[in-house]
Amino acid sequence: MYKHLQERYAPRPPVNVGTLVKMRAEGEKIACITAYDASFATLVDDAGVDVVLVGDSLGMVVQGHDTTVPVTLDDIIYHCRAVARGLYRPFLMADMPFMTYASREQALENAVRLMQDGGAKMVKLEGGASQIEIVEFLASHDIAVCAHLGLKPQSVHKVGGFRVQGREEEAAERMLKDAQALEAAGADIVLLECIPAALGKHITEQLHVPVIGIGAGPDTDGQILVLYDVLDITSGRKPKFSKNFLAGHDSALEAVKAYTQAVKTKEYPGPEHCF
Ligand code: KIV
Repeated sequence: MYKHLQERYAPRPPVNVGTLVKMRAEGEKIACITAYDASFATLVDDAGVDVVLVGDSLGMVVQGHDTTVPVTLDDIIYHCRAVARGLYRPFLMADMPFMTYASREQALENAVRLMQDGGAKMVKLEGGASQIEIVEFLASHDIAVCAHLGLKPQSVHKVGGFRVQGREEEAAERMLKDAQALEAAGADIVLLECIPAALGKHITEQLHVPVIGIGAGPDTDGQILVLYDVLDITSGRKPKFSKNFLAGHDSALEAVKAYTQAVKTKEYPGPEHCF
């Protein structure tokens, strides 16, 4: 009870949207990572990450699917509740799974479930111009939103694979316009996945909200990676932008600390992780 009064005096109070905006303004890189259970949530909190995402990547790394498409809202809520119990400081963001935000009403109802049942503080949804109305509607109900652009894994069957996006001038321009429109619609942060580093830099410079990148180069305001890639648990081919931080460290905690430090000091991502 009255946890907020204790938190006010904590040395590092919980992160919120305002903290992320301040970090961008002050040039402090935002370290983000995924988590899917309470034990790892506590570990990544102890390692000093700022934002934790319960991503629909859980469909691939936890459930063993080939894509994120089969993940349901109940799946995310189940994992989000577990993660929420393990976290103190990081800001908790949850993915809206495939086809859970196809209309404004559906998006609102499902975002409310992620927050009330799952404990999420922000919802993330994939999409460009087609999601403007949805983002506007959620924002008008004071729901914190992250707009995910670039490679959108939920569209994998439509785009034909996990590919770098925005290489052509026209596609790059469209992505910038979409990002600006989503910001104007009320998106609190933008996440860019798998795009050329130069485009990641350009979009970050043109926006006013914090921009988090994954395979989007070193110049976004923060970085996010899938926890299992950081710990080198993911089997098979690894994405070019991922890095095994367990190498050279003797525990998962030290590995996530090394990732957080590398983001903060701008050592990660290096040129070898960029497109
Ligand atoms: O689902 C997920 O984990 C994500 C990250 C890869 C950004 O969307």
